[in-house]
Amino acid sequence: MIGDKKVLFSGMQATGNLTLGNYLGALQNWVKLSDEYECFYSVVDLHSITVRQDPAELRSRARKLLTLYIAAGLDPEKNCIYYQSHVSGHCELAWILNCFTYMGELNRMTQFKDKSAKHADNINAGLFTYPVLMAADILLYQADVVPVGKDQLQHLEITRDIAQRFNAIYGDVFTIPEPYLGKSGAKIMSLQDPAKKMSKSDENVNASIYLMDDPDTIMRKFKRAVTDSEGCVRYSESQPGIMNLMDIYSACTGKSAAEIEKEFDGKGYGDFKMAVGESVVSVLKPLQDRFEDLQKDKAYIDGIIKNNAEKAEYYSLKTLRKVQKKVGFPERIR
Ligand code: TYM
Repeated sequence: MIGDKKVLFSGMQATGNLTLGNYLGALQNWVKLSDEYECFYSVVDLHSITVRQDPAELRSRARKLLTLYIAAGLDPEKNCIYYQSHVSGHCELAWILNCFTYMGELNRMTQFKDKSAKHADNINAGLFTYPVLMAADILLYQADVVPVGKDQLQHLEITRDIAQRFNAIYGDVFTIPEPYLGKSGAKIMSLQDPAKKMSKSDENVNASIYLMDDPDTIMRKFKRAVTDSEGCVRYSESQPGIMNLMDIYSACTGKSAAEIEKEFDGKGYGDFKMAVGESVVSVLKPLQDRFEDLQKDKAYIDGIIKNNAEKAEYYSLKTLRKVQKKVGFPERIR
């Protein structure tokens, strides 16, 4: 708790072009929860270097992502929006937690298996211990809740395991975090292959809606979205393409699956796809406009980066000092 509020932590990588999946699975929920919790939203640049990055590009993307958090509606006066690399406690706690995490646990992580298959020439130790750094992010702020998409649930599970293991040895040091999944949008699939998650790294540009896509591009991608030959808008496992479009429409409009089925009863896929596209444009266009405006205000963004790094550091140190003491490091002499 901070004051009378529970704590929320979440983060996003500044690698690749953010997709509608990132927005509906995470960012949109962050905004919804931001009044209720004391929130920490990090641009997790330490995680990004587990795969090779161009330094200038990483810096530029990280700044854009931080700006996008604000453009999406997170008030930086109330929410702590900051770069992970500005708070050294993340790495320090990650080291300690590494010593409480088993190789076997990390070996089971599906994201590690996927990423090492994709980057076979660079299977580094950071990629392997990535979930431990993620656990450190969350536990450092004693987070109660972590809003993420479904693909991150396994990492949340290992975070809880590490925290419980640590608490069992040293007493109640860490709050055990709960994941938060939105009602719809927790797993947005590729528009070209509904068996695959919509991903920043998909080579087929028609598979993903990028947050900065202009309205024409968005409409064109939805027109081309893969559906089926059933011809009716129904929420059914046998129609994964339609299910995905319904999830997107539901997350953008707040309508339930039953309401959507009713709305499109007797109508063709063409009408449905147009409506989905328009609902996405109406969510993304204001965000894009705010982003363009904010980007011009360098001094304002710089101020946020400075102030929030200090705020994050303050809270991170409270946990870090406690953990250091528990494991037996000598006290500092002032
Ligand atoms: P990242 O950067 O891959 O994704 C950011 C967030 O977007 C969600 N997401 C999706 N949700 C629904 N459908 C999709 N197709 C989709 N694609 C991505 C992700 O679930 C995530 O919530 N390891 C994390 C970043 C991280 C983190 C943390 C998150 C680092 N430390 C601590 C929470 C707490 C990652 O790479 O997310």
